[in-house]
Amino acid sequence: MKRYALAVLFILAGCFPAQAGLPKVLVLATGGTIAGTGATATQTAGYKAAVLPVESLLAAVPQAGELAALTGEQLAQVDSKNMTPAIWLKLAARINKAFAAGEADAVVVTHGTDTMEETAYFLNLTVKSSNTVVLTGAMRPSTALSADGAMNIYNAVAVAADSSSRGRGVLVCLNDQINGARDVAKTNTSTPDTFRSGETGLLGYVQGGKPVYYKATARAHTARTEFDVSVSTALPRVEILYGYAGVSPAAAEALAAAGAEGIVYAGVGNGSVYEELLPALKKAAAAGAAVVRASRTGSGPVTRNGEENDDRDGFVAADNLSPQKARVLLMLALTRTRSPELLQEMFYKY
Ligand code: SIN
Repeated sequence: MKRYALAVLFILAGCFPAQAGLPKVLVLATGGTIAGTGATATQTAGYKAAVLPVESLLAAVPQAGELAALTGEQLAQVDSKNMTPAIWLKLAARINKAFAAGEADAVVVTHGTDTMEETAYFLNLTVKSSNTVVLTGAMRPSTALSADGAMNIYNAVAVAADSSSRGRGVLVCLNDQINGARDVAKTNTSTPDTFRSGETGLLGYVQGGKPVYYKATARAHTARTEFDVSVSTALPRVEILYGYAGVSPAAAEALAAAGAEGIVYAGVGNGSVYEELLPALKKAAAAGAAVVRASRTGSGPVTRNGEENDDRDGFVAADNLSPQKARVLLMLALTRTRSPELLQEMFYKY
């Protein structure tokens, strides 16, 4: 009990003492429901996200101080519907600096769940280290009965602190489950078990302060990517266009006219394009915009030159990336090349 009191004291002061033998874990807070508060203990919708500072988040989990020497930093304070590429860049820069300077052995990012999968995949492609980065959040605000934030932070620190997590790419840990950044998606509006990796499956579980893994991440990530955002102040503009029966070309034309450098098409089925939309996408590609065909189905690869003639039209197939993750990759890929052939290679590599 005395130990916990001491730990809380150090957390409130912004850090734990660097206890010999414990890995140094930096907790970067960005807001979300995990930092949210509601008017009553039963309010689980309509509460205010991104209220509590990092010190409060850590003070709720003194037990985490037994797993790691923790320091906390407030990097942003947003509901993740308001997450931006500018904050992604700031986050990547802070993490890369912490690892390069030996300030931290691992990083935990607390984040809203709505766009966590996009931030996780961005970091998976831009963190230049095999040190562990774990994102966590909560589906219930801190004031709710059975709030999930404190246990999720404890588990995320356990995953971050354990050497078996290194080299697996950026991880997402909520609800006792560990998922890879490339595969994971928020799949339910409200329930704590919302994060799923679909058909490709989760990487492991964390229980009793210890992660257990069942498989490795196959695609290239972190230190093995070609993306360097260390001097970037902005990213290429990439927009998502949704496909549906009878879709008009109006949105595609408007995006091209607005100067989108890339358009990710969330197509029906195997990324298929309605015949009346096709001319607008071909025109955008011919004018120099990257056009990537993804699928709105939620699983399965989009086949290059399958339903559409990608070679002829200068399109790129998104493989099995969701439209929102295909957008993240395309934003980074466009910092390296405009060639549809090279872009396609990146979609098969990452
Ligand atoms: C958010 O994404 O910031 C709000 C919702 C959540 O964190 O669950």
